[in-house]
Amino acid sequence: MGKIILTGDRPTGKLHLGHYVGSLRQRVELQNSGLYDKVFIMIADAQALTDNADNPEKVRQNIIEVALDYLSCGIDPTKSTIFIQSMIPELTELAFYYMNLVTVARLERNPTVKSEIVMREFGKSIPVGFYTYPISQASDITAFRATTVPAGVDQEPMIEQTREIVHKFNSVYGETLVEPEILLPSNAACLRLPGTDGKAKMSKSLGNCIYLSDSAEDLRKKVMSMYTDPNHIRIEDPGSIDGNCVFTYLDAFSCCDHFAEFLPDYACLDELKAHYQRGGLGDVKVKKFLYAVLQQMLEPIRARRKEYEQDIEGVYEMLKKGCEVAREEAAETLNMVRRSMKINYFEDAELIRQQSQMYKSAK
Ligand code: TRP
Repeated sequence: MGKIILTGDRPTGKLHLGHYVGSLRQRVELQNSGLYDKVFIMIADAQALTDNADNPEKVRQNIIEVALDYLSCGIDPTKSTIFIQSMIPELTELAFYYMNLVTVARLERNPTVKSEIVMREFGKSIPVGFYTYPISQASDITAFRATTVPAGVDQEPMIEQTREIVHKFNSVYGETLVEPEILLPSNAACLRLPGTDGKAKMSKSLGNCIYLSDSAEDLRKKVMSMYTDPNHIRIEDPGSIDGNCVFTYLDAFSCCDHFAEFLPDYACLDELKAHYQRGGLGDVKVKKFLYAVLQQMLEPIRARRKEYEQDIEGVYEMLKKGCEVAREEAAETLNMVRRSMKINYFEDAELIRQQSQMYKSAK
């Protein structure tokens, strides 16, 4: 059996460094590795609507933003199928059948959904659609018979839920669906990139993001005002690197070549950290280095985005083609599912023959 990737993002804003380091960068590598037979990248608008039902305009406007971010990072439509979730109605039908295989108690235990409910201040008024989005996500993954889901750690409970649904489905209806695995980023600092304010996670609602499409000037301002060690007041003071997000970002983004190029007084990050901890190294110097590292990485992404921005019609055309390819794939799985669940009445000549026999012989 071939290896197939499916992953995606909700179109609720432009993509930021957290997305890049948590998944996007790896997707491009996987796409180019030649190890996968098919790669599907989904813009999860239907999932975005589960907590933005009253704001479809926001979702609609951000589809192009996410598509532009994908393309500018190096997702290549000749190698990967980029598509829009809501254009594939087969996904909702699958979700409806999977709902019978999951209990309310199981949904209640999902830690990602739990924390999202708190963050969105839903209280007791949780939309049912939002509550059940892990089931819909299982449809997204299984519809493409994905073996591999490259995603951040926050998606782990969703993949776990998907695997349970696959197990249950296959044991009740016979071997039909493929069990997927999550593929996490390998670098620990990439697992959960903090925001520029040092808060838990980079998130649009907290206003602590560096966007892939930020200008060089915005990037510089954001880096220079990043949270460091509040007790590191004078340069001579020893500094702490724990929870100091400038160093967390360097863990995620810098390599020895960057030192050779931008900060040759140090051979590697460990030396820079040791100096900071000893005292005698100022925040500004470290931040300037981080800026240089990020600027070098983001500049080509920005430039490619500018080009695609000049061909929005072409980007929509690409998305439309992607939806057609994705729909065929999902329809094939849905047919298999219907057959396994025995809800393929008109295809089932044997069923009709038997029932006809039964009534004829009873006459
Ligand atoms: N939940 C993902 C996010 O919040 C988006 C998503 C929807 C997804 N369906 C998926 C990711 C399937 C991986 C696989 O960004």
